[in-house]
Amino acid sequence: MAVDFEATPSPCFLLDESLLRRNLELLAQVQRDSGATVICALKGFAMYSTFPLVRRYLTGVTASSLSEALLGEQEFGGEVHAYVPAYMPKEFDAIARIASHLTFNSLSEYERYCGRLAGASAGLRINPEYAEVETDLYNPCIPGSRLGVTAAQLGDRLPADISGLHFHTLCEKGSDTLERTLEHVEANFAAQLRQVRWLNMGGGHAITRQDYDVEHLVALIRNIRARYPNLQEVILEPGSAVAWETGYLISTVLDVVHNGGQRTAMLDTSFAAHMPDTLEMPYRPRIRGANDAAAQPEFHADGHRYNLGGLTCLAGDFLPSYTFPQPLQTGDRIVFEDMMHYTMVKTTTFNGVTLPAIAIAREDGSMDIIKTFGYEDYKRRI
Ligand SMILES: Cc1ncc(COP(=O)(O)O)c(C=O)c1O
Repeated sequence: MAVDFEATPSPCFLLDESLLRRNLELLAQVQRDSGATVICALKGFAMYSTFPLVRRYLTGVTASSLSEALLGEQEFGGEVHAYVPAYMPKEFDAIARIASHLTFNSLSEYERYCGRLAGASAGLRINPEYAEVETDLYNPCIPGSRLGVTAAQLGDRLPADISGLHFHTLCEKGSDTLERTLEHVEANFAAQLRQVRWLNMGGGHAITRQDYDVEHLVALIRNIRARYPNLQEVILEPGSAVAWETGYLISTVLDVVHNGGQRTAMLDTSFAAHMPDTLEMPYRPRIRGANDAAAQPEFHADGHRYNLGGLTCLAGDFLPSYTFPQPLQTGDRIVFEDMMHYTMVKTTTFNGVTLPAIAIAREDGSMDIIKTFGYEDYKRRI
């Protein structure tokens, strides 16, 4: 069924259920054919109104905060895994109560909390010091990275009640990258790999991208399971791949302004407020029916060229140079493609990280705590 882009409010994140189902079917096939457990990384996609569909295909979710863990428990209902770079002392016990698998980022975190696992199976995030990620902002293996324990830090030992290893070093990568990464993991953590019950291979597997080699992924997982019979579970926790190309951010042209030979279509959305990844990251969103003349200068001469302006007063809240087949008019809809993973959670609450409280230090020396935020605030925004 063709989606009616005129029928939504504006601006609006619009998910196409049939596209989500197509991704889920492929992920379920990976799960079936490889014997891996596939769970959805809520930090990438947390639109819980889709969970009745998602849970028919995937085993559970992975959470990176108490809010995400609660969302998993209350709205998904399958396994909830947890990994937080540093657990908040006041949230740890609640997360441990919910989580079936709980991964620590460092040995000091493990030592701080190992007596409070509440039955969760504990894992350790390892840093294989190998990643094929071009952009440092996404690269957990940059020198001095805060993410994961290196082989030198760990030596041959594994703390007594660690039953899993976790690595996350991929970002929208193919199975060939996973293969090379596994070689480094095996080279650096051979002793520990033989001691654990589960291995979580993180996210960043672009499984639902058209060129992804699913058979190769399945073969890699089967192979590692065969060579390490102690691994009762191999886990993949994709976020992007779940919601890859499943929906849009729909916006509307409010005005067109001209300055110095540049035309800017002013939209009722904002790159800074609604699509911060389009400014933070080296990536340009695709726009339905338009060409990206900044990325492909050959389109400069083609059609009608506009910058797209955001609604905040930040000077840089715009994207340069898209060309459209017709001149843009007030009221025209501008549809941004592939906005359901990361863009949406960055607009709502990234990683479910609790918003800072708001307080006033009064002139008389007293302190008024005006507001604190929690799970309900997080949930209401998705
Ligand atoms: C630990 C961990 N697991 C899983 C993911 C999901 O990755 P992706 O959405 O690229 O599949 C991330 C993303 O940052 C992550 O940090």
